[in-house]
Amino acid sequence: MIQLAPSILSADFSRLGAHLAEAERGGAGLVHVDVMDGHFVPNISFGAAVMKCLEGQTKLPFDVHLMIEDPDKYLEDFVAGQTEYITVHQEACRHLDRTIEHIKSTGVKAGVALNPATPLNSLDAILPQVDLVLIMSVNPGFGGQKLIPYTLEKIKELKERRLAGSMAFKIEIDGGVNLENAGEAAKAGADIIVAGSSVFGKEDAEKQAKKFTDIFSKM
Ligand code: DX5
Ligand code: ZN
Repeated sequence: MIQLAPSILSADFSRLGAHLAEAERGGAGLVHVDVMDGHFVPNISFGAAVMKCLEGQTKLPFDVHLMIEDPDKYLEDFVAGQTEYITVHQEACRHLDRTIEHIKSTGVKAGVALNPATPLNSLDAILPQVDLVLIMSVNPGFGGQKLIPYTLEKIKELKERRLAGSMAFKIEIDGGVNLENAGEAAKAGADIIVAGSSVFGKEDAEKQAKKFTDIFSKM
């Protein structure tokens, strides 16, 4: 089943709890938590303190996307009772294998993210060890951008590699997904679909989330 992971980056930070409850009622499966440090990406979002305030506000598991340099230094701060995945960027890790093992040692699932221009084969050696591969479909740093079409080809190819290697990691797409292209992203092979501005940018997050989950339930 394809899961919707609304990104709180586009939510109203003064009413995150209410917004999450809306997304949950709309059928979301995960909460996507976008952490930006102003170094790896040209924007600063929020840190672990904000994420921890969300514990208990929703039953949805947390899908933490660390867009930060030196993630080993901070990743344990993001291990909470509700954390399901912690994802780091291939481009931010000098010792990716060590970082993936570090995430797993905390008891949560480990993900790796690729920027649009980073080739899939940079992950060849690590794929059997990861629980999730996040394909960025925009250049990370901001919500509300337009999906870069060639990233859908990366998703298709990744799905083929997963099948060929009998692997079990989830494939996630992140950036620029809206109601018009969500079906295409799902068809390409994404198991988890992040949507920020298309869920929280509009008035009613529950209704918006429901429109996405309706699309996925028919697939
Ligand atoms: C981009 C973030 C995305 C983004 C998604 O750097 O990783 O999660 O906020 O937002 P939309 O859906 O608006 O592109
Ligand atoms: Zn993200």
